[in-house]
Amino acid sequence: MDNDMAMRTFQGVKAKFALELTGFNGTPKMFRSRFREADDNVHALYSARQIRDIRMKLLSIPLDAVRPLKLPPIIVDRTAKGGVGKTTVAGNLGTCLALSGHKVLEIDGDAQATLTGLFGIDWMKEDITHIGELMRRCAANQPTNIRDAVWPVYEGGMLDIIPADITMADDSWLMGALNREQAFVRLLEKEIEFFSQYDVIIVDSAPGSSLLATTFMLASKLLLAVVTPEPHSIAAMDVLASNVQEINSAFSKREQQLDIHIVVNKYNQTKKPHNEMLSTLLARYPEKINDVIIRDFVGFLREADPNKIVDNGTVLEKEPSSVGARDIIDLTKSLIRRYDIRLADHRAVGFEAAA
Ligand SMILES: Nc1ncnc2c1ncn2[C@@H]1O[C@H](COP(=O)(O)OP(=O)(O)OP(=O)(O)O)[C@@H](O)[C@H]1O
Ligand SMILES: [Mg+2]
Repeated sequence: MDNDMAMRTFQGVKAKFALELTGFNGTPKMFRSRFREADDNVHALYSARQIRDIRMKLLSIPLDAVRPLKLPPIIVDRTAKGGVGKTTVAGNLGTCLALSGHKVLEIDGDAQATLTGLFGIDWMKEDITHIGELMRRCAANQPTNIRDAVWPVYEGGMLDIIPADITMADDSWLMGALNREQAFVRLLEKEIEFFSQYDVIIVDSAPGSSLLATTFMLASKLLLAVVTPEPHSIAAMDVLASNVQEINSAFSKREQQLDIHIVVNKYNQTKKPHNEMLSTLLARYPEKINDVIIRDFVGFLREADPNKIVDNGTVLEKEPSSVGARDIIDLTKSLIRRYDIRLADHRAVGFEAAA
């Protein structure tokens, strides 16, 4: 890994934003005087790590608290349809979770490597060890050397990514692997010491069905299904729902049946078909749809520039006061509750309760 690229040092967020992300309910002045960690000379910027420390203090969690040796909640995004915003949601959600103090591991599970590029890693130039390769090594009983595959996005292990590149498309090794559908679960179990250091793991998967995607689904309890309010979305949801049903009957011995949680993205309230489609989705999948809906917002298109990948970044970083960031913050708050994501495994109040 190139040293210059190894750390895209995150500068932090302004006090106003930090106030919301910590869940502190005093005045901004009180916040500044109580939490002087941020350097006032750089306009009171708080890093993800500092926000974690502040929240731990507010919650009386010891700063050196370590998570127990168990897997954190694993969010896997899935949709039968491409281009609906899976990667956008995965990237922004991970950023927001980290900026609200959670330790986050993102896994790029798509050979298109869009999430990798979103975090400023130019996979065409860099030496990448992707999750498929780690699973292959694990299945072949070879040392996985997992830490070498991890790229830090924010310092202090607040946001790490296992990136992908196009070579992950070759999953022929998986076809012949024993118990192949469990290849990802086995890697998680074998490397539990590594994976259990995070408060949440987010896997961004590729559209459509593939063996690789199935391995990710089996590690999850609740799939995050991103849909757009368009005619094809019902069909795409139905395909995913029947896929989940198949998995549940094929792996009926699983501790818990797999379920779906739906997030609607790219919603434009002025479009009649969008509202009609939303009603249809609600009628067909009641209680599975998140009440936070992400609006159609052009800033999401500005996140990634194929000609200058190192400048890429999520809306939450680039345009933190935008409507897009607002929707992402609201979605993150609701998913913290839905997936029971905890700071160092401690149930937190504050950010969660403030929603
Ligand atoms: N809420 C939104 N408003 C406007 N544009 C959006 C929104 N969400 C995502 N986009 C844009 O839609 C395009 C597709 O998004 P994204 O790559 O996240 O989809 P995906 O489901 O991951 O695609 P794929 O199936 O190819 O992996 C991107 O250009 C992204 O910027
Ligand atoms: Mg994608």
